[in-house]
Amino acid sequence: MTETLNPKPFKNKKRLKNAAEGKQRRSSFSEHRLLASTLIYMQQARHRTSAATTTTAQTCARNRPTYEEEEEEGEEISERCEQSSPRLLRTQNRSWFPIGGRATLARAQSIGGQGRIIAQAIRVRVSNLRFRIESAMNVFIASSSSSSSSSSSNQIKLLTFFALLFTVLVYAKNGLYDDASARFMKDDFKMKVAKAVKAHVLVTGGAGFIGSHGTLKLIEEGNAVTIVDNLSRGNEGALRALKKLTKGKNALRVIIGDIADENVLNRAFATEPKITKVIHFAAVAYVGESMQDPNKYYKNVTSNTATLLQAMDRFNVRELIYSSTCATYGNPDVLPITEKTVPIPINPYGKSKLFAEEVIRDYANANADFKAVILRYFNVFGSDPKGRLGEYPRPELRNHGRISGACFDAALGNIEHLLIMGTNHNTRDGTCIRDFIHVTDLIDAHILAMEKATSNPPSLYNVGTGKGVSVKEFVHACKSVTNVPIKVVEQTEARPGDYAEVYANVDKIERELGWKAQYTNLEESLGHAWHWRKKHRNGY
Ligand SMILES: NC(=O)c1ccc[n+]([C@@H]2O[C@H](COP(=O)([O-])OP(=O)(O)OC[C@H]3O[C@@H](n4cnc5c(N)ncnc54)[C@H](O)[C@@H]3O)[C@@H](O)[C@H]2O)c1
Repeated sequence: MTETLNPKPFKNKKRLKNAAEGKQRRSSFSEHRLLASTLIYMQQARHRTSAATTTTAQTCARNRPTYEEEEEEGEEISERCEQSSPRLLRTQNRSWFPIGGRATLARAQSIGGQGRIIAQAIRVRVSNLRFRIESAMNVFIASSSSSSSSSSSNQIKLLTFFALLFTVLVYAKNGLYDDASARFMKDDFKMKVAKAVKAHVLVTGGAGFIGSHGTLKLIEEGNAVTIVDNLSRGNEGALRALKKLTKGKNALRVIIGDIADENVLNRAFATEPKITKVIHFAAVAYVGESMQDPNKYYKNVTSNTATLLQAMDRFNVRELIYSSTCATYGNPDVLPITEKTVPIPINPYGKSKLFAEEVIRDYANANADFKAVILRYFNVFGSDPKGRLGEYPRPELRNHGRISGACFDAALGNIEHLLIMGTNHNTRDGTCIRDFIHVTDLIDAHILAMEKATSNPPSLYNVGTGKGVSVKEFVHACKSVTNVPIKVVEQTEARPGDYAEVYANVDKIERELGWKAQYTNLEESLGHAWHWRKKHRNGY
C-alpha cells in the first residue's frame, strides 16, 4: 500500500514566502516530511526499501504536525519517528536530504548498501522539482484557504497557478539551473556521455587556456570529459568552441560551478559512465595577484584541492593528474631545475601549489589504492596549431597578465605599451629568464602521464623545454611574429614575488614517459597563438 502526500498549508507568512522562493530552511520536521514522501515515491517507483521503513515513513507523513504545532510538538514527533526507524534516524543524522532539494547523492551513498540504491533512485533534480512543486502547492492551498474575499482569492489562485506552471516549464525546458549552485550548459543536465569511451575524465578549469586545450585533446583521443569551471577566469566562449568542435561525439558535459562547493562536485561525479580520472587544472594562477591577496590562493589552490580529493573519495575515483608549477621551486641556485631541486617557493602562488602537492601526497599515503601524477609546468604559451582554440586573457586581469597575452594586447592596440617589469636581474640581459613550453606539448605530456605515470606515492615531472628564454628575447620574437613595432617600456624594479631565472631539466619525463617538447621554435609557437588572437581580437 502506498499513499500520496497531501502537504499541510504553510500558515506562517514568512515560511510561506520562503517556500514560494524555494528558500524554506531545513528543519527536522521538514526533513521527515520530505524523507517520508521520498520513500513512498521510491516504493511507488519499485525501488527496494524495506516494508518497515516505508510504513514508518507513511506514519510519519500522516502524523506530521502543522507548522504551529511543530513549534511546540515537532521535536517530540521527530523523536518518535527516529526511534521507530533506524533508517530514518541514520538518514536524518547524516542529513543527506536537506530541504530545498539539495539531496547530496554522496551522503546517501555513504550510508552504504541500501543508501546506494537510494542515491541512485533519487537524483538531485527529482527532489528539487518535487520540492518546488510541493512548495508551490502549499502556497496554492494556503492562499485558497486563507483569503477572505473571493475575488482576491481567485486572483491569488490564478497567480499561484501561473507561478507553478512557470516553474515546471522552466525545469522542463532548460534543466539549466538548480539551487545547488551548479549550472549545466544547455542540455548537459540530461546528457549521458557515450559509453564506448576510453575513460570518462573530470577536467576542472576546462574553460581556461590549458584546460580547454586539454579537453579537446582528451576527446580526440577517445575519452569523454566532464568540465567543471566557475568562469571566474577562462572564457565561456572556449566552452562553446569545444561544444562545436566535439559535436556529435556525445563526449562533453559542462557544469558551471565552483569546485569549492561540494554540491557542484557531487553533481559532476554522479554520472554514467563513471568518472575514473581527474585532471585538476582549475586555479587562480598569477604571481602578482598572489602577493596582493595570498588568502585567495591558499583557498582556491590548496583548500580546493583537498575538497576535490574528498569528493573523489566519496565517489571512489582513484586517479588524479595535478597541474603544478615551477613557481614551487622559487629562485634556485643551481640550474637547470630537476625534480630533486629543493622547492623553496617565494610567493603565495608557488607556496599554495606546493601545499596542494603535499595534500595530494598525504592523501595518497593514507589511501593505498589512490594514484596520482604531479606535473610542474614551466611557462605555458602558444595555442592549438590548427587555430581552433587560443588564449584570451580577460581584460580585467591584464595588470597581472602573462607575457604573450600582454605582447599581443600591445600589438593589437588594446594597451598603449608593453611593460617589462624587472631589468636588473642577474641574467644575460637583466630581464627574467623563463622556459616557455607550448600548450600542445604540455597537453601531450598530460595524456602520457595519465596513461602511464599515475602512481602511489605520486610521481613528479617537470614539463618544459630545457631551454631558458629572456623576456627581452621573447618580446623580440613577438615583434617579429606580429610585425608590429610594439612600444616597450622598461621598469627596473622587478614584479614582487618574481624569480630571476628558471628553466627545466626534463630528463626524467623524457626517460620515463618518452615525452619531449616538439615546438621548440619560439617564433613558430608564437605564430600559432598570434594567428588565433588576430582572428579573435575580442576573445572567443
Ligand atoms: N599558464 C601557465 O603558464 C601555467 C604555468 C604553470 C602552471 N599552471 C597551472 O595550470 C592550470 C591552468 O592554468 P591556465 O593558464 O589555463 O589558467 P586559466 O586562468 O586560463 O584557467 C584556469 C581555469 O580555472 C577556473 N577556475 C578557477 N578557480 C576555480 C574554481 N574555484 N572552481 C572552478 N573553476 C575554477 C577558471 O575559471 C579558469 O577557467 C592552473 O592550475 C595553473 O596554476 C599554468
